[in-house]
Amino acid sequence: MRETENEAWWLRKREELLEIADQNLNAYVYDLASIERAVKNMLSLESVSRVLYAVKANFNADVLRTLAHAGADFDCVSPGEVDRLRDVLPDRADGRVLFTPNFAPRDEYEWGFNEGLRVTLDNLYPLKAWPELFAGQEIFVRIDPNKGGGHHEHVVTVGAQSKFGVSLDEIDELERLVKAANTKVIGIHAHSGSGILDPGNWHSVAMELLQVATRFPDVNVLDLGGGIGVPAQRDDPVFDLDSLDSLLVDFRKSHPQYKLWLEPGRYLVSGAGVLLTHVTQLKGKGDMRYLGVSTGINSLIRPALYGAWHEIVNLSRIDEPATESVTVVGPICETGDKLGSDRTFPNSEENDVVLIANVGAYGHVMSSRYNLRDIPPEITI
Ligand code: LLP
Repeated sequence: MRETENEAWWLRKREELLEIADQNLNAYVYDLASIERAVKNMLSLESVSRVLYAVKANFNADVLRTLAHAGADFDCVSPGEVDRLRDVLPDRADGRVLFTPNFAPRDEYEWGFNEGLRVTLDNLYPLKAWPELFAGQEIFVRIDPNKGGGHHEHVVTVGAQSKFGVSLDEIDELERLVKAANTKVIGIHAHSGSGILDPGNWHSVAMELLQVATRFPDVNVLDLGGGIGVPAQRDDPVFDLDSLDSLLVDFRKSHPQYKLWLEPGRYLVSGAGVLLTHVTQLKGKGDMRYLGVSTGINSLIRPALYGAWHEIVNLSRIDEPATESVTVVGPICETGDKLGSDRTFPNSEENDVVLIANVGAYGHVMSSRYNLRDIPPEITI
């Protein structure tokens, strides 16, 4: 039985969060129990033999330790991510890593092989230009399955507009280059986009990867990537893991020679993170009513970059009736410094604590010191 939560954890832990906000003007707070639960849910899928957490989503040390303890392995896209894992999990990291660089320089592939990492190739260029690096190696190949989607065009990773993966019409050439370089392909990989809510997506991807896998006799893994969506609003339905599992169990019954891996980032950590901030100023302008908070798009770029919707509440006045519509803005010198538009809020005052939800993935990791504003600290509970 999979565990779910009826009430957001941050409502249950409101007092603790208010205390943290007392000590910190702004802070990212991660609830480690939520991460454990999400990993457990995903590992309970009968069809999936490994869950590789996409480190890019959140590389906080406590978060990585929690994920590792709960049984996740790791997908890293840079030497920096591998180093972070090694720092956090000494002795235990390397065998659990899939290293998937993209448009990386030659040295990075050489480094990956020398370090004994499992490397994913996502373009033919390295095989053509540097075949000597691949001689005698066992690799994964990332394919563009031409099926996928995403919550925004920036995160759709299939089709000609996306720079990722070997196209399906390049498979003959891939086969030739692999033979010429004396390389073994042992896994076929795809990541078809981020924030996808249709469980059928991963079955379609598996079917596409199958066509490629049959061309390489040593393949025994199909890595179907990440991209599992999370509900933006508390009342939205959660991702249907059971339906994903039953589709993939059917696939496995027909093709038992292939193990299936998934590579979720967001699904495992998004809901576990909140950003706490404080009301600074209020302002009316024309029809608009602005509620200013003490951090902005330097801490959370997702609303500005993808138009992403994050729930925002006045945590100090959670039980007061919401009476006005406000646009929540930060202190950054850009008109796009909006964390949320047209939100119904209670009558708010300077120093109230404001909570922005669902920011455990691609929140802190994408923050910057733009305007030389501080990046909020990360606190785990
Ligand atoms: N595997 C690969 C190879 C990836 O490139 C990604 C994400 C994942 C797995 C994990 O995807 P997830 O399960 O987290 O959707 N900054 C954007 C998301 C960019 C995702 C990039 N690649 C956002 O804030 O929505």
